[in-house]
Amino acid sequence: MITDDIKEILVSEEQIESMCKTLGKQLSEDYKDSTQPPLVIGLLKGCVPFMTSLIMHMDIQIEIDFMVASSYHGTNSGDVQIKKDLNCSVKDRDIVIVEDIVDTGKTLKTISEILSVRGAKSIVIVTLLDKPERRITDIKPKYVGYQIPNEFVVGFGLDYNERYRNLPFIGVLKEEIYKRGD
Ligand code: IMP
Ligand code: MG
Repeated sequence: MITDDIKEILVSEEQIESMCKTLGKQLSEDYKDSTQPPLVIGLLKGCVPFMTSLIMHMDIQIEIDFMVASSYHGTNSGDVQIKKDLNCSVKDRDIVIVEDIVDTGKTLKTISEILSVRGAKSIVIVTLLDKPERRITDIKPKYVGYQIPNEFVVGFGLDYNERYRNLPFIGVLKEEIYKRGD
C-alpha cells in the first residue's frame, strides 16, 4: 500500500476537506457581485484534487480552465515554461489561480505576469499549501490552505517523481523512498 511509504501525516483528509469548504465559501462571498463569473485556472497536474474539492464548495457561477507549467529548479535555466496554454481569453476577466503549493514562487510569478500582460482584470492565487520560508519572489497567495515548514511533501495532488498524487492526505515520505530512487 502506498500509505506504507509515509513517515508522517502533516494535513489529514478531514482537515483538507474542512479547509476546502472554508476557502470555497470565502471565494463565493468575495466574487458574488462580480459582473462576469471568475475564471478559475488550475495549474496541472498538482491542482486536480484540490481544485475539484474547492470548486464544489463554491456556490456562485464560475468558469474553469487549465495550464501546465514546468520549472527547472536546481539548474541555471531556472525558467518556467508553459507546456499547455489556456483555451480561453483572460482579457478583462477576474482570475483565480489554483495551485498545489507555493514554494519559491517562480511558477506563479511567471504565470501571473503572463496573465497580466494578456489583460486580466484581477489575479489572485489560492494555494493548498504555502512554504513561505522558501520564497525568492514577491508572490503572495491571497488564499492559503495551510502553511507548512520547509519539508518535501506528497499527496492530495503533490508528487514525488509523479507518484503519490492520489493520497487523500498530505504527508512526508520515509527517507528510504528517496534512497531507493523509484
Ligand atoms: P515554485 O515555482 O518554486 O513555487 O514551485 C512550485 C512547484 O514546485 C509546485 O507546483 C510543485 O510542483 C513543486 N513543489 C514544491 N514543493 C514541493 C513539495 O514539497 N512536494 C511536491 N512538489 C513540490
Ligand atoms: Mg505543481
